[in-house]
Amino acid sequence: MNLTRRQWIKNGAQLTAASMLPWSLWADQPQVPHINIQARETTASWFAAPTPIWAYNQPKLTLQQGVMQTLRVTNHLPVPTTIHWHGVRVGNAMDGVSGLTQAPIEPGASFDYQIMSPDAGTFWFHSHHNTIEQLARGLYGALVVTGNNEPRFERDWPLLIDDWSLSRNGRIDPAFANRHNQSHAGRMGNFLTINHQAGPWRGEANAGERVRLRLINTATNRILQLHAAFPGALWLAKDGQPLAIPEPVPEVILLGPSERWDIGWIARDAGQLLEVSGDEPLLVAQVDLNPAEGTGVPAYPDAMALPANPMPHVPAGVNQRVPVTLEGGAMGRLQTAQFQGEPHSFRELAARGQFWAISGQTGMPEAPLFRARQGESVELLLDNRTAFPHTVHWHGHHVWADGRWHDSLTLLRGQKQSVRLMAGNPGKWLIHCHMIDHQATGMMTWFEVV
Ligand code: C2O
Ligand code: CU
Repeated sequence: MNLTRRQWIKNGAQLTAASMLPWSLWADQPQVPHINIQARETTASWFAAPTPIWAYNQPKLTLQQGVMQTLRVTNHLPVPTTIHWHGVRVGNAMDGVSGLTQAPIEPGASFDYQIMSPDAGTFWFHSHHNTIEQLARGLYGALVVTGNNEPRFERDWPLLIDDWSLSRNGRIDPAFANRHNQSHAGRMGNFLTINHQAGPWRGEANAGERVRLRLINTATNRILQLHAAFPGALWLAKDGQPLAIPEPVPEVILLGPSERWDIGWIARDAGQLLEVSGDEPLLVAQVDLNPAEGTGVPAYPDAMALPANPMPHVPAGVNQRVPVTLEGGAMGRLQTAQFQGEPHSFRELAARGQFWAISGQTGMPEAPLFRARQGESVELLLDNRTAFPHTVHWHGHHVWADGRWHDSLTLLRGQKQSVRLMAGNPGKWLIHCHMIDHQATGMMTWFEVV
């Protein structure tokens, strides 16, 4: 580790001060100072008049792989909240799911999350209480976990790409829960931001520099279709987990809500990131080249592969097979499902604001979808029998599918996919669609590791 002279002096001063404390006090000191995160009302400068949003004072957190860190979350909002560390394999009590792993943090109160990520990579954090409103108001940030043996990138840019639904007055549309949206593809926005700023995002690199782009879809419902016009770029990681061998970036990246892609690129030309789902491509990010400055060091693509994280071994055999059938929604064929322990017709469910089911259950069922012992290998047979795509998210675990790890996986309409889950940390973990309109109207269940 390289310490600059300034840091060196600072650390030395801290040591002197600490050594003067009585021993008992010293023993109580945390190893790393805690990080304060404030959830609060603020404004964005997108237009001439400021737009009220909700956001954290820390839009980007950087943690060290394997280091326990206290994140003290103080709630300055007028309503209760929690934070979920999406994709980080945390202890169950730190998962931030209100009503399942903790009581929400009341206005004015604080909660200490003790987070140690075994994995280096690209994660994010967001409210997991009344998510349909709190995520749409802007309560999210990037969570970068740095590893010790990662290759060097001269530029490292997390891009939180969001899709806001604004009214004509430029304010966030307050109709967060709309039955038509919820029973279809979900609330779609009309305003794109990158890292809470109006797009396009702009960066600059020197010729020959290695660039790491961390693409994070923070939209409540929209699947982004991204075209990465970065010549020679390589796909390095999915959902924080490195690919064993980097792959060329496909023509269009389908990035469902909550999914992340890390892309590595050697800047020899300018590059652009475009959203191509509409009639006209939309410029999301632009990297300009500064040709005057060269690093002088030739960079080779194979030097960008990221070291593997300590993920479980996936054995050939499975201990149990569990169907995960996605049903419901408009134009679906869902006849009946269980809600709060009782069978209901689709019409009755709709009257109760429930449109979607997982394996015959809608909403949070009493019993888990499955129980597994720590270390067990579970095969999940995903089957999307609806007329819409869904991005299924697993808490506390990644699943193995098509030779890669995912904590979220997008299934197109009619798509079937078998995935493997290695039961890890004990506790109660959610499985839900990360299209928040679907999650809020039934597409949510849980599993238990014992
Ligand atoms: Cu990103 Cu259950 O959440
Ligand atoms: Cu869905």
